[in-house]
Amino acid sequence: MKNLANIFHNHPVVPIAMIDNIQNGLKLATILIREELPIIEVTFRTKEASDILKAIKDHYPDLIVGAGTVLNAEQAKIAFTSDADFLVAPGCNPRTIQTAQDLGMPTLPGVNNPTSIEMALNYNITTMKFFPAEVSGGIPMIKALMAPYQDIQLIPTGGINHENFQSYLATERVLACGMSWMVDKKLVEAGNWDEITRRVRLIKELSAK
Ligand code: 3PG
Repeated sequence: MKNLANIFHNHPVVPIAMIDNIQNGLKLATILIREELPIIEVTFRTKEASDILKAIKDHYPDLIVGAGTVLNAEQAKIAFTSDADFLVAPGCNPRTIQTAQDLGMPTLPGVNNPTSIEMALNYNITTMKFFPAEVSGGIPMIKALMAPYQDIQLIPTGGINHENFQSYLATERVLACGMSWMVDKKLVEAGNWDEITRRVRLIKELSAK
């Protein structure tokens, strides 16, 4: 089983894609590999998502591909059979977590309050998604939430973009962050690969500072 903390330590910014056809998924994958940002979260918000995820893993086994927006145990099983490297959930659903752990799938449950953090800790999960980051209180909320919990790390997503991601990454206990901005759904649908490439490069450039 891959170690989530290691994955995100090596890849502190994760593009989050909402795509509905395989060709676009493969195109995005080629851009991310070429630009040396070899990680993507494919959200299960389209009915094609699991097929797209599988196609990306078949073509590019070294690209780290997470299944996002996993809402229940059934979707966790589908993500597993699609060869996802890890699962991301917006909430902290014990059935999803238990299913994923039974399958040996690393899971990033979503938390934004002490109750959900403690639910995740019950499953020995110490790397969690902080979602939806900006509207849940952003960086001040992270600081307040982390005070009682010494051993956890967060991956904020939701409302994060090129303008604010560096502040999140500079916050103690933030291991990485996720954003759809780099691989915006509208740009993918329009086939605007140049703009997607520009955004990926900008994030990489800013990350290096
Ligand atoms: C997620 O799936 O984690 C978020 O919806 C991504 O949020 P964003 O579109 O605000 O980046």
